[in-house]
Amino acid sequence: MRGSLFNRRTMQRFRQVAISTVGSLKIKLLLCFCIALTLIALASRAPGLLGWTGQSVSDPPLADSRKGYAIVMNTWKRYDLLKQSISHYTTCEGLDSIHIVWSEPDPPSHSLRTLLNHIILENARGGRQVELKFDINKEDSLNNRFKESKDLKVDAVFSIDDDIIFPCSSVEFAFNVWQSAPDTMVGFVPRIHWVDPSKGNRDHYIYGGWWSVWWTGSYSMVLSKAAFFHKKYLSMYTNEMPASIREYTTKNRNCEDIAMSFLVANATGSPPIWVKGKIFEIGSTGISSLGGHSEKRTKCLNRFVTEFGRNPLITTNVKAVDSRNIWLW
Ligand SMILES: *[C@@H]1O[C@H](CO)[C@@H](O)[C@H](O)[C@H]1NC(C)=O
Repeated sequence: MRGSLFNRRTMQRFRQVAISTVGSLKIKLLLCFCIALTLIALASRAPGLLGWTGQSVSDPPLADSRKGYAIVMNTWKRYDLLKQSISHYTTCEGLDSIHIVWSEPDPPSHSLRTLLNHIILENARGGRQVELKFDINKEDSLNNRFKESKDLKVDAVFSIDDDIIFPCSSVEFAFNVWQSAPDTMVGFVPRIHWVDPSKGNRDHYIYGGWWSVWWTGSYSMVLSKAAFFHKKYLSMYTNEMPASIREYTTKNRNCEDIAMSFLVANATGSPPIWVKGKIFEIGSTGISSLGGHSEKRTKCLNRFVTEFGRNPLITTNVKAVDSRNIWLW
């Protein structure tokens, strides 16, 4: 009798203890789960914090020509901007070489070369040094920026003007997008065209600038002042595209970027890809701020439609964004 009462009490207490242990275990599990979530959130915000860079460890190695990108930079007598751009981009990972498109009457001075080489040396990390080349042109033409360079070791060309700067994270993201679609033009500055409703015929087109893209959420070109494309398009632009188009852009000092958009669209039958990125303009505004700009662009557009025998541009609404920076799905 006594013994069994004692036993029952002990059992009861034991059960209580057991229940409370299970209870605290649940709370602990919940806590662990919360901490883990917080850590994952932190890690994705600050890559490398937990040694987790968002890239899978077992990715197969890429071919050498796919590993990095080459910057092809158009510049014109603005050495302070050139210096600023070069010192920024040489800190970006994945950059293989810089090719400066030089169209000035005088070759780059010794002091400029020394200065730029000094900047590159200073920014070299882990013994990896970016190569700097001047592509010197005798003629001053907008087509120079698309001349074939024999020194390009990598497939990806990042074509850029000397007066815009993108943070390395934006450049690397755009490069990643390009790697998943290497035939496509991938860029930061979208533009649109549409059929002119005021004209009776269906094949007169109008060029639309940034506001049109903003209003419609549509685009059909990305400008080569900030875009990735495969280096094969350089040789196609120079050797295969009708010479009359190159002559037109040289004469009018405009629209080489529209010509490149036509060329790539004609070759791929697909639209370009617009990637989200922060843009910092460091120079004064270029020709796009001058009056009559969009009429000139409209003229080019229609001229190139005639030259190509059709309009190859395709309109799209797709915009690539870095999913690591998006929290609401
Ligand atoms: C457009 O693409 C077609 C088919 O690939 C090609 O034959 C033609 O030469 C291209 N046109 C221009 C102007 O490059």
